[in-house]
Amino acid sequence: MPIYTALQAADPDVYNALMGEMQRQREGVELIASENYISCAVLETMGTVFNNKYSEGYPSKRYYGGQQFTDIVESLAIERAKKLFKAGHANVQPHAGAPANIATYFALMEPGDTIMGMDLSHGGHLTHGHPVTYITKIFKFVRYKMKDVETGEIDYDEMREIARREKPKVLMGGFSAYPRELNYAKMQAIAKEVGAVSIMDMAHIAGLIAGGALRNPFDDGFDLCLTTTHKTLRGPRGGMILTREEELGKKIDKQVFPGFQGGPIMQMVAAKAVAFGEAMKPEFKVYAHQIIKNAKHMAQYFMDHGVKLITNGTDNHMMLIDCITSWNMSGKEVEHLFDSIGITLNKNMIADDPRKPMDPSGVRLGTPAITTRGMKEPEMEKLAGFMLKAIEIRADETALRKLHEEVKEFCLRYPVPGIDK
Ligand SMILES: Cc1ncc(COP(=O)(O)O)c(C=O)c1O
Repeated sequence: MPIYTALQAADPDVYNALMGEMQRQREGVELIASENYISCAVLETMGTVFNNKYSEGYPSKRYYGGQQFTDIVESLAIERAKKLFKAGHANVQPHAGAPANIATYFALMEPGDTIMGMDLSHGGHLTHGHPVTYITKIFKFVRYKMKDVETGEIDYDEMREIARREKPKVLMGGFSAYPRELNYAKMQAIAKEVGAVSIMDMAHIAGLIAGGALRNPFDDGFDLCLTTTHKTLRGPRGGMILTREEELGKKIDKQVFPGFQGGPIMQMVAAKAVAFGEAMKPEFKVYAHQIIKNAKHMAQYFMDHGVKLITNGTDNHMMLIDCITSWNMSGKEVEHLFDSIGITLNKNMIADDPRKPMDPSGVRLGTPAITTRGMKEPEMEKLAGFMLKAIEIRADETALRKLHEEVKEFCLRYPVPGIDK
């Protein structure tokens, strides 16, 4: 375990909370589809004196002096990101995924303009126009959906029809709860027909694309891809915007800074460079492919045991379980039950869910973090087995406590980067 002696001496309260969190991560199973464990090298870089530097602007074009070394790390992050995703331009300064989305919207649209994205209950993300977000007061959002929730196929005919009617400035792909692949070529053709900019919010699948396990939207002509850097890509918390053409990239740069953000968080930019370097290695390709193999294997195991998965399987790292149909329990109840045995996932709406977001019909789970811990197909069966057992014995608190001990013992066999190694 790393030793945090200065923190322990200076602030025992924060130190103790950190120790608790480290123990929780070691002893538990992380199945939240958007989470991962970063490497020691990325973790170290995040805690460095790059934090102390203000670097408003971009490499060689800064507003303050003293940028010899910040320029090096930001340029490395940019060049590696471009290479990794075959992009013409990269902006690595967005503080997180949501600011990357918002800066992109402002770079491409005027207030009142229309953007077309995936229906939220069919998998789209809050930043794609959930009514609780401020961005919906500025832009008009229209939606496309799945044609068939049994296969997850998007209704591309309807997408085209809506696009022709609504004339969106932006046609957006991307999701936080959709287990299938989008047909980028079909979307690109629709965007071209109506004169929209094509964007893929690949936050969830960036690591899978970087590792060559899923298709790269740029290969089908997409104009722009944006992402978080901390999910499957296994980097520091942050965002990034990539464009095919340099011209569009310049617009994005202006909008990120000074349009939307102030100074970049330089230790995170440096850590992005390190993470992108890791993602370029052959081991990362193996990792990305294993994430999907693990998800498919777990999905099949669940389905073989009578569990109803939305779209009946997965093409990426995530699964959505219909808990009402499978076990006559709500997503909230299932989340709570699995929490009690040290397995963490999240309640989630399913397509056209009649229930409320805080107590929906489903749960979402994913394999990026457990794959980082070195788990493979046999472990997927073991974990799914723990979950099915918990459902079976849910009324028996003593049996659940015993199962929790078994889960802990199992987890401790799989080291967590940044904690155990
Ligand atoms: C598709 C998608 N876009 C954007 C975001 C927002 O990212 P952040 O939480 O870093 O702001 C997320 C986060 O879950 C996401 O899944």
